[in-house]
Amino acid sequence: MKIVVIQGPNLNMLGVRETNIYGPMKLEQIHAQMKDFAAQNGIEVEFRQSNLEGELVDAIQECYGEAHGIIINPAAYTHTSIAIRDAISAVGLPTIEVHISNVARREEFRQKSMIAPVCTSSIIGFGPFGYHMAMIGMLQVFNEMKAQQEMQKQAQAAAVK
Ligand code: DQA
Repeated sequence: MKIVVIQGPNLNMLGVRETNIYGPMKLEQIHAQMKDFAAQNGIEVEFRQSNLEGELVDAIQECYGEAHGIIINPAAYTHTSIAIRDAISAVGLPTIEVHISNVARREEFRQKSMIAPVCTSSIIGFGPFGYHMAMIGMLQVFNEMKAQQEMQKQAQAAAVK
């Protein structure tokens, strides 16, 4: 199973950027922890970051037929991008939205997520730990998918008899 982690604009500045809101951890450190967790759980993980909306759309599209799940923090594009929302819908993969800060407690323009309605789940306000929670959540989604496939197989086998 493969997860692609997609990071939006300014997240490459974590560790420098507004550390009172986002904390001191750098993006590379967050990704190193996710990579360790993935290895421990037999999951492949790939990381993408871009400051450009179109490149984020490309990264999502490239998951089609290649990945089994997406963990995404579209950063500021969360609140504006219909294109990113449409790309998530188009590929139809389990997708978990992560926000480091608790956007619900911040400015009004951060209250709306364009992507939340097309995501499996959203994890908000746990700091960088939210990415770890998203990995655990995705494993659960994969397990449920496997269990459902198994049930379907058994139902088909029973119907043939
Ligand atoms: C963010 C929240 C967004 O509102 C903001 O534009 C970001 C980061 C977060 O992770 O808390 O860049 O997505």
